[in-house]
Parts: sequence; C-alpha cells; structure tokens
Amino acid sequence: MNDFTETKPFVSYLSKNEIRFAEQFASKHGLELITPRNLRISATHKQVIWASAKNLALQDLAIKNSKPFVIDYMDFKKILAKSSLLKKCFSKKDIGRKVIDLTAGFCIDALEISFLGYSVTAIEKKSWLYEFTNQCLQNSKHEDLQHSINRIDFINGDSLDLIKKYSDHEIAYLDQMFEQKNDARAKKEIQFLRNLDFEEFDLNRFKKALKQNNFKKIIYKSALHSSMSSLINLKPSRVIKGKAFKYNIFTVDQEKE
Ligand SMILES: C[S@@+](CC[C@H](N)C(=O)[O-])C[C@H]1O[C@@H](n2cnc3c(N)ncnc32)[C@H](O)[C@@H]1O
Repeated sequence: MNDFTETKPFVSYLSKNEIRFAEQFASKHGLELITPRNLRISATHKQVIWASAKNLALQDLAIKNSKPFVIDYMDFKKILAKSSLLKKCFSKKDIGRKVIDLTAGFCIDALEISFLGYSVTAIEKKSWLYEFTNQCLQNSKHEDLQHSINRIDFINGDSLDLIKKYSDHEIAYLDQMFEQKNDARAKKEIQFLRNLDFEEFDLNRFKKALKQNNFKKIIYKSALHSSMSSLINLKPSRVIKGKAFKYNIFTVDQEKE
C-alpha cells in the first residue's frame, strides 16, 4: 500500500500590500497563510502560492535557485508541435468528437488536445489550482493559442461527480499523478504538481464512472512500467510509449485505430 498524503501549498505574499489579499485567498481555498520569514525557516514543506491581486505565482523553495513561476504555455513546445505522443492518441475517426479531461491540472494537456481542433471540457478539483490555471490561460496572449484556449471549457469540481453531465463527450482523458523515478527530466511546473499531490488517485472510482458514461475512447496516461492490462474490462487497443510514461488507449466498439 502506498503511503499517499495530500500536501497543500502555503499561501504567502511578496509585499506587505498584498497581506489582505493573501489572507482572503488562503481562507477561500482552505489553505494556510504563512509569513515569508516563517516560510523560509519552515522545516516542513516549502511549496508556496505567492498571492497578489495582479498575479498568482507558484514556487517550491526546497528547490535550489527556484523562482516564482506562472505557466507560460509557449514553454511547452509539444502544445504547438505538429506531432507529439499525445497527438498520436487521436485519429481521423475522432474528428468532431468532444473531449473531457478529467484531471486538468495546469491544462497543458487539455491545450495540446484543443490545439488539434477538439472542444475540451477540462475539470480540476483543487479550487486554488483551478484559479491559478484559469489565470494563466486568461493571461496567455500568444495569438497562436487563442483559438485553442477558447475551445477549453475549464471547470472547477470533482470530475467523478460531474462526469454524468457530459454524456455527449465521446473521448475521456485521464492523467493520474504517478511517481516517477527520474524526476530530473520533468519541468519545474510538473514537478510542483508532483511534489504536492500524493493524494491517492482513486482509480476504482474512475473506472466505475467511466463505465457509466459510454465513452468511445479513453486515453489513460500512466507510468511507463505500470501494468495497465485492463480498464473497465477492456484491454488497451494501443499503447504509445514515451521515455517516462505511456498513453494507454482504450477504444470501445472495438474500433480499429
Ligand atoms: C497529473 S495532474 C494533471 C496534469 C495535467 N494533465 C496538465 O496537463 O497540467 C493530475 C490533476 O488531477 C487532479 N484531480 C485528481 N482527481 C481529480 C478529480 N476527481 N476531479 C478533478 N480533478 C482531479 C489533481 O488535483 C491534479 O491537479
């Protein structure tokens, strides 16, 4: 049994003018406010949301030379790339289908999928993360991404509770948090989520929900060496492998890719 716990980031502020905003932000999201000084000397974890009315930024002070960051989607070359592992999970048969991303996080994958032309409903359960990501999407001024951002319907909630409302969506995407042996390769943004979220991912609840929703295709990202021989009684019809993870593709109706 894995020893999973959910770690919450602290909320702090970079200038005294922001204390009030930071207090409100922490209280709204059920997070703990900490002074910058106490954060520096904290012996426990050091992940922080720098709260300011203008911008929310994230930082992990446990990482040497780290700086506050927001998500700049242009840093993720795969989003705009013609071909990528995630893009390979989609075929001509999928054109016109709606996609639901059940674990949206920073919406990097949701944006990569919508860049292919799909309408994506992306659901994130953590309210602070929803607010942060929403701000990053709204602040993204890159022209090449505007249409793709507009095709994302970003929602805060538990996808397991909301999934029933989206019975017109034929493709489900699921990116569970998994431990990775070689984290050095991961970008700081992904590392931040990973260091934070060791919450147990309730795959059984997801399986049940997926079964009820007649999806035509389920794309499930998992650790490279995880055994994913079946999901909702299906075997993956295709597995697309990267260096550290793989996409398991389950197609219903035994459609051939
Ligand atoms: C590995 S991250 C996803 C990263 C994402 N693919 C991206 O491109 O940024 C998994 C995310 O799923 C969210 N999550 C886990 N269970 C969820 C649920 N039941 N409903 C909605 N979001 C969930 C977690 O809070 C976390 O942010």
